[in-house]
Amino acid sequence: METAEIRRRWLRFFQDNGHTVVPSAPLLYDDPNLLFVNAGMVPFKPYFLGQERPPYQRATSVQKCVRTLDIDEVGKTSRHGSFFQMNGNFSFGDYFKEGAIELAWELVTRSQAEGGFGLDEAKLWVTVFHDDDESIELWKRIAGLPDERIVRRGLADNYWHMGVPGPGGPCSEIYLDRGPEYGPDGGPEVDEDRFMEFWNLVFMQYELADVRSKVDFDIAGDLPAKNIDTGMGLERIASILQGVDNLYEIDEVYPVIARASELSGRRYGASHDDDVRLRVVADHVRTGLMLISDGVVPGNEGRGYVLRRILRRAVRAMRLLGVDAPSLPELLPVSRDAMAPSYPELQRSWGRISQLAYAEEESFRQTLRAGTQILDLAIADAREEAVREETTGGPVAGAPQLSGSKAFQLHDTYGFPIDLTLEMAAEQGVSVDEQGFRRLMAEQKAKAKADAKAKKTGHADVSIYRELADALGRSVEFTGYDQVASEARVAGLLVDGSSASHAREGDSVEIVLDRTPFYAEGGGQLADAGRIVLDGVVVEVDDVQKPLGDLIVHRARVVSGELTVGDHVQGLVDVQRRKAISRAHTATHMVHKAIREALGDTATQAGSENAPGRFRFDFNASAALPPSVLRDVEARVNALLADDLEVHAEVMSQAQAIEAGAMALFGEKYGDEVRVVSVGDWARELCGGTHAQRSGQLGVISLLGEASIGSGVRRVEALVGSDAYDYLAREHALVGQLTEVLKVRPEELPDRVGSILARLRDAEKEIATVRQQQVLAAAAGLASSARDVYGVSFVSHDAGEGVSADGLRTLVLDVRGRLPGDRPAVVAGTAVAKGRPVVVVATNDEARRWGVKAGELVREAAQVLGGGGGGKDDVAQGGGSDASRVREALARIEHVVGERVTGR
Ligand code: ALA
Repeated sequence: METAEIRRRWLRFFQDNGHTVVPSAPLLYDDPNLLFVNAGMVPFKPYFLGQERPPYQRATSVQKCVRTLDIDEVGKTSRHGSFFQMNGNFSFGDYFKEGAIELAWELVTRSQAEGGFGLDEAKLWVTVFHDDDESIELWKRIAGLPDERIVRRGLADNYWHMGVPGPGGPCSEIYLDRGPEYGPDGGPEVDEDRFMEFWNLVFMQYELADVRSKVDFDIAGDLPAKNIDTGMGLERIASILQGVDNLYEIDEVYPVIARASELSGRRYGASHDDDVRLRVVADHVRTGLMLISDGVVPGNEGRGYVLRRILRRAVRAMRLLGVDAPSLPELLPVSRDAMAPSYPELQRSWGRISQLAYAEEESFRQTLRAGTQILDLAIADAREEAVREETTGGPVAGAPQLSGSKAFQLHDTYGFPIDLTLEMAAEQGVSVDEQGFRRLMAEQKAKAKADAKAKKTGHADVSIYRELADALGRSVEFTGYDQVASEARVAGLLVDGSSASHAREGDSVEIVLDRTPFYAEGGGQLADAGRIVLDGVVVEVDDVQKPLGDLIVHRARVVSGELTVGDHVQGLVDVQRRKAISRAHTATHMVHKAIREALGDTATQAGSENAPGRFRFDFNASAALPPSVLRDVEARVNALLADDLEVHAEVMSQAQAIEAGAMALFGEKYGDEVRVVSVGDWARELCGGTHAQRSGQLGVISLLGEASIGSGVRRVEALVGSDAYDYLAREHALVGQLTEVLKVRPEELPDRVGSILARLRDAEKEIATVRQQQVLAAAAGLASSARDVYGVSFVSHDAGEGVSADGLRTLVLDVRGRLPGDRPAVVAGTAVAKGRPVVVVATNDEARRWGVKAGELVREAAQVLGGGGGGKDDVAQGGGSDASRVREALARIEHVVGERVTGR
């Protein structure tokens, strides 16, 4: 049975049983605790917790999910996929255990001819939470299951929660016995490959707090109602109904394996290692496809990093399969075709998706090229080290090893993955201090995590915000679209991160109001600032954040008086700042639109920051924006500013927004109303930010330039309004000064400056040549000044300031060439280049035969100069820091020559 058909049957069955069919939410979901949606219940969480009233009592969905925690398991077991789809049915205070078990048993065992999945009852097992006698009775009565196929299990297997504070409860799971060819008999406790779990029924009835691990958490209390949350892995049931061994072989995944196998010439099923690689490729290509489709862009942090890692692992697996050519252009379309029947948006957004993915592969290929060279050098060093230690009997004698810090540096600086380092080192017989590497990684990770948390919430623990949100009992009303001053009630206070009833003069405080005109940082728009006041109380607000869901928190300082929970206050937004930010935000929309007009619809937004009077806008593009395009974009937007277009916001359904051609449509929860901001009829995009009322208010914009900020992502920075004017005025003044000084018209400036620079370069060259000639002219005189030092012709010369090391070297070699070759000769020269002393020594064959070596002489001299140096026996160079001692250094050389020759 095709996966698409299984999905249809699932939804039809539950729809026929009174459930509302809810489309999948996007993988990116607005939950600060989750990287991606990782279970079917995620979009329904507020209903389970009683934070929002569900619009239906029964729902069903097939939810896209991504889990990357056990990414290393992908391909090795038959059950782990980083992207998967979860069939779910949900009851919000409607049916409970009995209803859930009845429905599940009915669908699983109903014949395929009658719309069910037609599994053989005799092969089904279930597990229940150890003390859940009620479920055991239900399984016996409803399904007629015998005792031996009902297994009691503990917290680790039969209790489900989100891994973070939220709803949870005991669960009951349904397993299929796939037969003796998959493993030993004895039920799920004995072998989970043979007895494969495919449906989890969660009896959701508790709210959990402080979840420390899967089996260690506190129950905060009962949920407002008893609920049902179930999850059936769509890929697992598909593998069962398609009679294939594992989830990589189902119809939605296998075509990529087939293509990868064709490209690599490695047959699937021939070798275990290759099979794992082929499965990794198929899994990761699909996950990458779905993540990009839902708006994730490859990057170095958070979600972007997960995506980057996934794509790189896919490319890497292809290389290990022997394919060096770019792989994604071959594989991604295959995955798209397999998934498009269920996700038509993959076709719609194909231009953007493929462009991003291919650019990421290209940048990884460059990383590999650069990293490989660095790695080769590091390996050579490690080998040399081992040989040295062998001769000296050191600790790593004969066993070359790459240090953990080197492996970490390769990873961190060159993006070179550790598995690649391990493998390539092993190929050359060098081991890697993996433990050291892991330690450094763990340190870095811990630091990054702490940083990220602290940055996002300014507070390590979100539970305190959860308490504030609960105390308020509803979401904060944002009045700031129409107002810059609003009356409000103080609903909660945090002083020093703890809940407080008062905040006193001088306190730093976080304030929750029941309604607020302050815009919290989000959607690329910086936070408002301002004041919260009441008789005798003044509080300065300097940051506003949403640490949890829609909860708006004002970070502030009490300047005078005392603020108390329950106070009725006035929130007063700093109007100048707000206006300047709003103008920047409107400008961003206009630049976005103009860039898309210039480059096409693949130039989608990848990020932005709207600040007072300036903004930056990041977008997807595979190449730099030529200056002419940048100028056109700027001119187009400025022309439209003068047209004074009206800016207005409307709330509408997503369907209407798509119809109206709104940009930036992804990442929204399906079915939600969206806010669409339009600049005239021209630029229309989804946005929750604040804006100018008319484009004319922006005055003028000036694009400062564009640059790359990562693979396939470009950034433009710009100024708006008086900031743009000030900037242009300053530039104008500068041009004025330059025309004055250079006595040309402004448009002649570039040519004039160019020709001045060219003449300067020529002059510098000429000076260098003349100097060199002067130095060399001295050579003949110097050669005749040779003195005899114990039978050696010895020349020493201080060339003084302004002679480069190269110049000195040329001189010394020239003098040596003029001295007779049939007797030993040594030439020593010093100079002071850029304030630092250099020394060069050259010896001839005869001198070396006498045991006089240039390298050694330079070392001695350099010591005098307070530095170091060395080189070969025939010519060597060194330097130091003390230019006042060059004479002494030359004397030292003469002295050492004497010692060598006389053997003293
Ligand atoms: N929420 C449950 C799970 O993800 C059904 O397994």
